Amino acid sequence: MNTDVYLQTLFDIVRAKMAADPNPLSQEAPRPTRPIAWSVDDSSELYQVNAWGKGYFCVNTAGHLVVRPDMDAAREIDLFDVVQGLKERELTTPVVVRFSDILAHRLKHLHGAFAQAIAENDYQNKYTAVFPIKVNQQRLVVEEVYRYGKPFGFGLEVGSKPELLSVMGMTADAPDRLIICNGFKDDSYLEAAIIATKLGRTIIPVVENFEELPAILRIAEKYDVRPKIGIRVKLASEGSGKWRESAGDKSKFGLFITEILEAVEILRKKDMLDCLQLVHCHPGSQLQDIRRVKDAINELAHVYAELKILGAGLQYIDVGGGLGVDYDGSGTNFASSMNYTLNEYANDVVYRIANVCNARKIAHPMIVSESGRAIAAHHSVLIFNTLGTSALDQFKVTGKEDQESGVTLPQPVRDLLDAYRTVTERRVVECYHDAQTARDQVLQMFNLGLLTLEQRGLAERLYWATCAKVRDLTRKLDEVPEELEDIESILSDIYFCNFSVFQSLPDSWAIDQLFPIMPIHRLNERPTRTGVLADITCDSDGKIDRFVSQRDVKKTLELHAITAQDEYYLAAFLVGAYQETLGDLHNLFGDTHVVHVRFHDDGGWWIEEVVKGDTANKVLEYMEYDVADLHPALARDCERAVREGRMSVAESQAIKRFYEGELNGYAYLE
Ligand SMILES: Cc1ncc(COP(=O)(O)O)c(C=O)c1O
Repeated sequence: MNTDVYLQTLFDIVRAKMAADPNPLSQEAPRPTRPIAWSVDDSSELYQVNAWGKGYFCVNTAGHLVVRPDMDAAREIDLFDVVQGLKERELTTPVVVRFSDILAHRLKHLHGAFAQAIAENDYQNKYTAVFPIKVNQQRLVVEEVYRYGKPFGFGLEVGSKPELLSVMGMTADAPDRLIICNGFKDDSYLEAAIIATKLGRTIIPVVENFEELPAILRIAEKYDVRPKIGIRVKLASEGSGKWRESAGDKSKFGLFITEILEAVEILRKKDMLDCLQLVHCHPGSQLQDIRRVKDAINELAHVYAELKILGAGLQYIDVGGGLGVDYDGSGTNFASSMNYTLNEYANDVVYRIANVCNARKIAHPMIVSESGRAIAAHHSVLIFNTLGTSALDQFKVTGKEDQESGVTLPQPVRDLLDAYRTVTERRVVECYHDAQTARDQVLQMFNLGLLTLEQRGLAERLYWATCAKVRDLTRKLDEVPEELEDIESILSDIYFCNFSVFQSLPDSWAIDQLFPIMPIHRLNERPTRTGVLADITCDSDGKIDRFVSQRDVKKTLELHAITAQDEYYLAAFLVGAYQETLGDLHNLFGDTHVVHVRFHDDGGWWIEEVVKGDTANKVLEYMEYDVADLHPALARDCERAVREGRMSVAESQAIKRFYEGELNGYAYLE
């Protein structure tokens, strides 16, 4: 045999052997791989912390997520440390941690951006924000916004009568800070606004539907008040993104230009044109594209100028909400992002208004914005623990099941075995298809009674073990074949997490809103698993399978391997806007604990406020259960069992104590 022939023969033998078992070591314990270095910077990059964190969130050298409430690297709060501290105080996760200092910083930042734009554009008036309290109506949050907004003269926006009633009660000390009233208004809502005027507040009901104007005039006359009136303009320039219908001809609120002209005539006839003080628009929430902002403001400024020239006593131009939050950190016009900065926004608003007013030679009005999510989103973090995982790539097979089994395996099971044994980089797609076909046939045979439960179990193990091999081989390929693009997410783990999507992240469920989610510790360790998150509600929708990524949206999140005993904490960030109030009581999971954490000037942190989460009693009360009767009913049940000899007195006492304790306990898993 010459050398070439010898080598060829040897090669054929090896290839045949490899085809029979491509990885003879695969059934042995995994070979210890050389640990590949992983640093906290890698975690930062992986979870895009700097992109969405905007300086408020970073990873420290211990591999923990830290909060820098005023973006100062010298003032950090370690989130994992906070969780441990809360545990010592018997406040277990899930918990919403509100960083009041971030809230204060956001308000300062907003004021600063407009102050700079005003200076740069030689704008001859001021800017004020009115915080729409619907964004986070929790009393502590509204009070903090109001307190921290005081140096800048910021006011509040309400969208309903109850919201106004609450605001009337907390604004007595600052009559000059604006209150804007939006939303549907009946006589009593308007009456409350007029009474607030009489009490000395600077309050402007905004006419959103034409019928509200005569009602305001009638009620103002009754109280002998000269009201300040605003008008919401139905803009022709539509918004964009999820809230695009907040503007445009079909928008729910606002007056058509014809109606505005009619309103002007009504006011002129009553000699009250000076009462028309504000024009308003709301181009939609989370404006992702700066062009929409520019178009809307330009149109509104022209309406303002025209009305001013017609003799209206206009003083304010209210550009509404919409200033976005860069949830995914991409800085693009993707729905969860925004393609502009706060400074660009402020500059565009000021510049457009100045431009129109200068051209029409009218005085610059005071600029009002109703920025909500941009103020509140960053300051709240939802922290939750994991409860365990379920993994599809953990099924154990030997690859010798045909020899081990005493009987001949049915054809599709043998096909699965074959696919498992023969999968190689070159055959990866083919073997994956073979496994899928064989699995379908297995199911059909089982449903016809032609397969035993053991055989079906074996087929299941072989199928998932083949998929795991396919995934591992795919990771080595330079290019992932189209057919295998989803293999990572198909095989991803499920991490069971102690929270309710419906209560704490309702926008993730309802409108596919992306929130940055990541572990808050072990960030100096490479995450070796990928997973989706399942909450504790009995609802298959109660999951999160869309995650922030550098490109596109990730279907799985990189996570660390855990056992059910491990303490492993994840957090969802930027949840301070809309989530708390929109959350619902699905499966009776109520409000989570909430704590307000502040930075301590001596380093470290302290707790300013604790709002305990809902107990089982409280959520049952919401559902109109007579909770006072629940415990006595169980006690009667226990006594009956004692009487009938089914239970000892000691047992019945323990059961009664347990039941009472649980009624007064946290609704989440502890
Ligand atoms: C009238 C009005 N103003 C302000 C806002 C707050 O918007 P954002 O939170 O996007 O700033 C909203 C919310 O959609 C609104 O309807």
